Amino acid sequence: MACRLFESADHTATYAKFRFLWTTGITDRVLTYLQERYPAPYDHAIDVGCGSGQFTQLLAPHFKQVTGIDISANQISEAIKGNDRNNITYKMGAAESFPIADESVELVTCVQAAHFIDMDKFYAEAYRVLKPNGCVALISYTVPELGSKPLTTGL
Ligand SMILES: C[S@@+](CC[C@H](N)C(=O)[O-])C[C@H]1O[C@@H](n2cnc3c(N)ncnc32)[C@H](O)[C@@H]1O
Repeated sequence: MACRLFESADHTATYAKFRFLWTTGITDRVLTYLQERYPAPYDHAIDVGCGSGQFTQLLAPHFKQVTGIDISANQISEAIKGNDRNNITYKMGAAESFPIADESVELVTCVQAAHFIDMDKFYAEAYRVLKPNGCVALISYTVPELGSKPLTTGL
């Protein structure tokens, strides 16, 4: 069950306009961790709950291809509008069932979205799509309390 707070075109247009950019310090840290377990070069990363793609874009220089996935059609539409990278693809999809092939990615990120997601299903999907020694990075403002049940109310 998803938390559908990011659905209307007005909401997602405003989100895309005012959402801050994440810093490369975060991607550097994630990539350093990944490098220790799975040496570069990298083929494919996915960013789950990508919103309008501000973090997804930071992954693009490090992977042959990057896929941003979000449950909201309008978030995906804004991400596509703002995309100037030819190695990023945005797709509608749920964090509990990725539209991604088995053992095909080195990195799964989920940025400020894990608290909306059924994490048991997310981890099962991450396990399915990751190559051996690939990594999951959950990134958020603070350490979220993640139970096995999804949060169904907004923050
Ligand atoms: C706070 S936004 C974060 C977006 C982006 N990662 C960022 O940092 O700007 C949370 C996003 O998670 C998406 N989301 C919520 N539940 C989801 C689910 N079950 N599957 C996929 N995306 C989901 C929402 O549509 C929204 O775009």
